[in-house]
Amino acid sequence: AHEKAELKERIRRLLKEREAVLVAHYYVDADLQDLAEETGGCVSDSLEMARFGRDHPAKTLVVAGVRFMGETAKILSPEKTILMPDLDATCSLDLGCPADEFAKFCDQHPDRTVVVYANTSAAVKARADWMVTSSIGLDIVEHLHAQGKKILWAPDRHLGAYIQKKTGADMLLWQGSCLVHDEFKGVELDLLRAEHPDAKVLVHPESPASVVAQADVVGSTTQLINAAQTMDATTFIVATDNGILHKMRMAAPGKHFIEAPTAGNSATCKSCAHCPWMAMNGLQNLVEVLESGKNEIFVDPEIGRQAVRAIDRMLDFAA
Ligand code: 13P
Ligand code: SF4
Repeated sequence: AHEKAELKERIRRLLKEREAVLVAHYYVDADLQDLAEETGGCVSDSLEMARFGRDHPAKTLVVAGVRFMGETAKILSPEKTILMPDLDATCSLDLGCPADEFAKFCDQHPDRTVVVYANTSAAVKARADWMVTSSIGLDIVEHLHAQGKKILWAPDRHLGAYIQKKTGADMLLWQGSCLVHDEFKGVELDLLRAEHPDAKVLVHPESPASVVAQADVVGSTTQLINAAQTMDATTFIVATDNGILHKMRMAAPGKHFIEAPTAGNSATCKSCAHCPWMAMNGLQNLVEVLESGKNEIFVDPEIGRQAVRAIDRMLDFAA
C-alpha cells in the first residue's frame, strides 16, 4: 500500500512537470481511473475520451486504455504528444479487422456507406466514411438509414446486429467480436435473473444477442454508469468488462452490482470478464512512461488526414 501511494504521488508530480493530462477508460485499473479524475484528466467512454483529448490544451496526453484510443487521440491532435503505458495493449476487434482485407471488402461493395467502430486501426478508419462509438452508433445508423443509405459495418458483429435490428437498416456486417463481451452467456444470465427477480440488467452492445435481449438498458460504458445511478433499483446485473464496477459503485453507493455470467466465471473464476489488454495499464508502467517519454503513439500523417474525416463526422454529429 505504501509503494502504491508513492507511485501515485510520483505520477501526480510527473503529470504536472510534463504538463500532461491523463485520459483513462472505465475498464482500466481503478487506481488509474481515480488518478485521471483527481488530476484534471478524465475517465470516460470512447467518445468522451476522444472529445476530451481533442479539446484539452495540454501538449501531452497519456492515454490509459488500448491502442486505438491512443491513435484516435493522435489523429485528432497530430501536434500533441500521445503516450501510452503499454503499446502492445490492443483489442480483438482491431486484430480481427486487418486493413488490407477490409479494403478488399469495401472494394467489393462500393455502393455502401462504410461505418466503422472506434475499435479499429487508423488505416481502417482511413477507409471509412464514418467512425462511431457504442454511445452513438445507433443514432448515426438511424440517420444514414433515413437518407436511404446502405451500410457496410465493421468490425463488431454483435453491435452491428443490434443496430441493424433496432433501425431496420440494410447492413452488411464484418464478423468480428470482442473477446470479453463475446463470453457472456444468455442461458446462464436467464438463470441468474431468476435468482434476482428485482435486478435490472445493464448490457454493453458488444455482447451476444441472447444477452442483449435480456437487457433493461443497452449502452456504452458511460450510459450504463448513468443508468446504474439513475434507475430506481437496488440490484443490477452487469454485462460488460468488470473494470466498470469501480465507477458504478462510486456513482451509486448502496446499490448492489453482480457480474453477468461468462463461461468462466459461472463456475470457476470470479473475474473472467476483464480485458487482458486494458489490464496492461498499471501504475508502474505509467510512471516509466512519464519519466522516459517512451511509448509515444505515431500515426502516418497521410493515414491520419484520411482517418480524421470519419472521426470528425461523428464528433460533429454528436455536438
Ligand atoms: P465504450 O466505452 O465506448 O462503451 O467502449 C467500450 C469498449 O469496448 C472499449 O474497449
Ligand atoms: Fe477490445 Fe473488448 Fe478489450 Fe474493449 S474490452 S478493448 S472491445 S477486446
